[in-house]
Amino acid sequence: MLAGMKTIRQLTVESLAHMAAQGSPRAVVDESARAILREWMLHPRKAAEPAPPAPAPPVQPKSAAAEMGVEEKLAYLRERALHWKPALALGTLREKMVFATGDPHARLMLVGEAPGYDEERLGEPFVGRAGQKLNQVLAAMGLERGAVYISNICKWRPAMGPQQGMANRPPTAEEIAACVQLVLAEIRAIRPQCIVCLGGTAAKGLLGVENASVGSLRGKWHDCQGVPVRVTYHPSYLLRNESLSARRAVWEDMLAAMEALGMPVSEKQRRYFLPS
Ligand code: URA
Repeated sequence: MLAGMKTIRQLTVESLAHMAAQGSPRAVVDESARAILREWMLHPRKAAEPAPPAPAPPVQPKSAAAEMGVEEKLAYLRERALHWKPALALGTLREKMVFATGDPHARLMLVGEAPGYDEERLGEPFVGRAGQKLNQVLAAMGLERGAVYISNICKWRPAMGPQQGMANRPPTAEEIAACVQLVLAEIRAIRPQCIVCLGGTAAKGLLGVENASVGSLRGKWHDCQGVPVRVTYHPSYLLRNESLSARRAVWEDMLAAMEALGMPVSEKQRRYFLPS
């Protein structure tokens, strides 16, 4: 860009600031400005570009973006995901995009790994055996599946070649890196009060930890974009390991999430999966 030439983003900021200087409490934002603000949602680092000097207390474009409803933001992100070049360019993920499910206004967000055979077929996260286990955990918390927001770090089923059949594999570090911006943007749109990472792959993506085990990450709070995060074992781990101690470990992580959400916890719930 030539020195002194303003970007469209800078012009948008200036025009919003001008409206503020005129005393306008609200900004009327046309479709092209909305597109710029949507870009902002997806790539907040670009938003950190120096803003031009403002003639009055600047109207933060963020507040105009915040005026978009969460449903509108998610619809936009779903559309972006359908054509998400970083994932498509890898050539290692299958074609069908499986976005997310649940309540966009949920206070609790769950993040899993990637769709498997059943999720790809039905176009919804956690609808196979792991999903049934997850529904049981949610029911024990007193929550219906539709009351939470459920997403995955990777929105495509990782490919395994022509003989794949019903087999699934976890996404690689490269695949996680190609997809993680989408789920980070979902978090910024939803602003849940608490996130639970279901398994180490989700933790790797959201917390940027490379080789940490779930055992070393669980039992404490982490942070993702200002939202408290708990890490627990993936529901499919509970399908393989039905021991009381594995179930109790997941349950303690869920109890911590319930407390963070201010949900009532009964004495009976507190003692679930403790040896009698
Ligand atoms: N496992 C996951 O991590 N996500 C799904 O959607 C299904 C199974």
